[in-house]
Amino acid sequence: MLLDEAVQVLAPRRAPVDVAGRDDALAVRVDGPLADVLRLRTAVAAYVSLHFDVPRPRSLTSGDHLARIVDAVYASLRVAGSSSFRFEAAGADSAVFARLADLVHEATGLQHDAADGQLVIRVRRGARTPDRTADRTAGRPTGRSASRATDVDPGWDVLVRVGPRPLSARTWRVVDYPGALNATIAAAMVRLGEVRDEDRVLNLMCGSGTLLVERLLAGPAASAVGVDVSPDALDAARANLAAARVRATLTTADVLTATPGDDGAWAAAGFDLVLVDPPWSGLHGDHASAVDVHAGVLRAARAAAAPGARCVVVTHEVKVMERCLRDASALWSVRETLRVFAKGHHPRVYVLDAA
Ligand SMILES: C[S@@+](CC[C@H](N)C(=O)[O-])C[C@H]1O[C@@H](n2cnc3c(N)ncnc32)[C@H](O)[C@@H]1O
Repeated sequence: MLLDEAVQVLAPRRAPVDVAGRDDALAVRVDGPLADVLRLRTAVAAYVSLHFDVPRPRSLTSGDHLARIVDAVYASLRVAGSSSFRFEAAGADSAVFARLADLVHEATGLQHDAADGQLVIRVRRGARTPDRTADRTAGRPTGRSASRATDVDPGWDVLVRVGPRPLSARTWRVVDYPGALNATIAAAMVRLGEVRDEDRVLNLMCGSGTLLVERLLAGPAASAVGVDVSPDALDAARANLAAARVRATLTTADVLTATPGDDGAWAAAGFDLVLVDPPWSGLHGDHASAVDVHAGVLRAARAAAAPGARCVVVTHEVKVMERCLRDASALWSVRETLRVFAKGHHPRVYVLDAA
C-alpha cells in the first residue's frame, strides 16, 4: 500500500525498493522536492537515509561523515523547522553520542534534548544481508540464487526524520480524544476499503472522526455520516473535520440499539462503505462486553449497508472478532485481514464484503 502511494505521490524515476532487514520500510529516491514526503498518508514517518561504511558510531564525528549528517539535518529543516533534536540509538546516552550531539548543535544551532527533541536522528547498525547486487531487477532484489551471504561489516545507518513530528500526527487533529485511532492506520483502512467518488460513507462509533477525515481527504464521496453515542466525541469530530476542511453529517446514537431509520441522517441506509473502530478494553468499553459490541456493530453495519457494500473494521479484540465474524457469515464475508502496529498493540484490520 505504501509502495503504491509512494509511487503516486513522489513519482520517483526509480522504483522504490525494500529496506534490507525490515518488513515495514521502503526506500525511495526522491527526485522532486523533499517536502513531497509530507503528503504521504500511509507512512508513519519519513527519513533522509544515510549509510556509512564505518565500524562504530565514533567515526561519525569525523569531518566528512559529520558534514553528511549536518546536510541531512538542514534538508529536513528546510522542509519543516525544528528547534531541538534527539538521538534514537542504542547507547544514545554514551559519551560518543554526547560528542556527536555537541557537533550537531555547533553546526546547526539546534538544541540537543535527549528526551523531547523534535527532530529525530536514528543511528543503527546497517543490515547484515545477503549480497544481491548481481541479482537486481529495476533496483529490487529478485531473491534468486545469486544471493550470497557477506561477512563485510554492515556499517551504520543514520536516519534523519523529515519534520518535527511523525507523519501520523496530522495538523487537522485540533482536538485530542482518548482512544483516537492512529491516522496512518485510518488512512490505510480507507485505501483497503477503496476510495470511490460515488460512495456513501458511514463511520460507526466515529469518536473524534479520524476515519471520516482520512476518508474525505483521500478523495470525494457522495456523502459521509459519523455516528457516536458520545456528544463529547462528536464535538471533537466536528472540530477535526472543520480543521481538515471536509464535511460530514454527525449523529448521536447508540448504534447497538438504534436502527438506520431512527434518525434523520442515518435514515438513508444504503451506505457503500462502512468504517468501524469499536471500543476496546479500558477505553470506551471493556472486554466483557466485547462480544456484544462486535456482534452488534457487525449487524448495525450490515443493516446500513447497500448491496455490494464494503466494511472495514479495526479491532484489538481479535479472537472476539473472529468468533463474531463466523457467527455473522450470512452478513459479511472476509476479503482480507491485516495486522497493524499501534502504541505497542497489534490490532487487526478486517476488510469485509456484504454477503
Ligand atoms: C475506539 S473509539 C473510536 C475512536 C475514533 N476512531 C477516533 O479516532 O477518535 C470507540 C468509540 O465508540 C463509541 N461507542 C461506544 N459504544 C457505542 C455505541 N453503542 N454506539 C455508538 N458509539 C459507541 C465511543 O463513544 C467511542 O467514541
